Amino acid sequence: MNELQSAAVRVWDPFIRIFHWSLVTCVAVNYFVMDDGETLHQWLGYLASALVVARIVWGFIGPRYARFSGFLPTPARLKHHVNNLLSGQQDDYPGHNPVGALMMIMMMALVLALGVTGFMQTLDAFWGEEWLQELHEVLASTLIFCAGFHALAAIVMSYFERTNLIKAMFTGVKVRFAPKP
Ligand code: HEM
Ligand code: HEM
Repeated sequence: MNELQSAAVRVWDPFIRIFHWSLVTCVAVNYFVMDDGETLHQWLGYLASALVVARIVWGFIGPRYARFSGFLPTPARLKHHVNNLLSGQQDDYPGHNPVGALMMIMMMALVLALGVTGFMQTLDAFWGEEWLQELHEVLASTLIFCAGFHALAAIVMSYFERTNLIKAMFTGVKVRFAPKP
C-alpha cells in the first residue's frame, strides 16, 4: 500500500460555512417541521432566498474558492472531471468539482423558485390557486431529493478522494491524503 501524506487547504471561508448550514436549517425546518405556509414558514423561506442572493454576490467578490469563475460547470470542465472519475484519477479541484457545482447551482435555483412561488401564494391574485400550491410542493420535494443525493455524494466522494468533505464544511479546511510519489 502507498504511504500517505496529507495536504491541508483552507477552502471555505466563514461566510460560506455560515451560509451553508443556515440554508440547510431553513430548508429542513420548512420541509419537515413547519410546512404549513404560516408566518414562520414564510420568513424562513425568505431568509433562505436572501442567503442564496448573498451567496451569488459573494461568488463575484468573495475569496478564491468562493468565486463562480473558479468552478462554473462549463461543458469542458464537466467532461474533464467525468473523464478523471471514470479513469480513477484523483480529482484536481481543491474547491468545488464541476459536477458538485452543477448540483449546488440547481439547489440554489430551486430555493429561489420556492421563494417566488411562496410569495405568489401570499398574493390575492393567486389566492387558492391549486397549480401554484402543487408547483411549490414539487419544487420543495425536488430540492429535498437533490439535497439527499448531494449529501450522499459528499460521503461517497470523501471516501474516494481520501478527505472528509463534510468536516471541511465545518472547519473550512480540506485535508487531502495523497499517495507519495
Ligand atoms: C437542504 C439541504 C442542503 C442544501 C440546500 C445544500 C446546499 C449546498 C450548497 C449551495 C453548497 C455550495 C456551498 C458554497 O460554495 O457556498 C453546498 C456544499 C456542500 N454541502 Fe450542502 N446542502 C445541503 C445539505 C447538505 C448536507 C446534509 C451535507 C452533509 C451531510 C452537505 C454537505 C456539503 C458539502 C460537503 C459541501 C462542499 C462540497 C465540496 O467540497 O465541493 N450539504 N451545499
Ligand atoms: C426554503 C424554502 C421553502 C420550502 C422548502 C418550502 C416548502 C413547503 C412545503 C413542503 C409546503 C407544503 C406543501 C403541501 O404539502 O401542501 C409548503 C407550503 C406552503 N408554503 Fe412553502 N416553502 C418554502 C418557502 C416559502 C416561502 C418563501 C413562502 C411565502 C412567502 C411559502 C409559502 C407557503 C404557503 C403559503 C404554503 C401553504 C400552501 C398550501 O396551503 O398548501 N413557502 N412549503
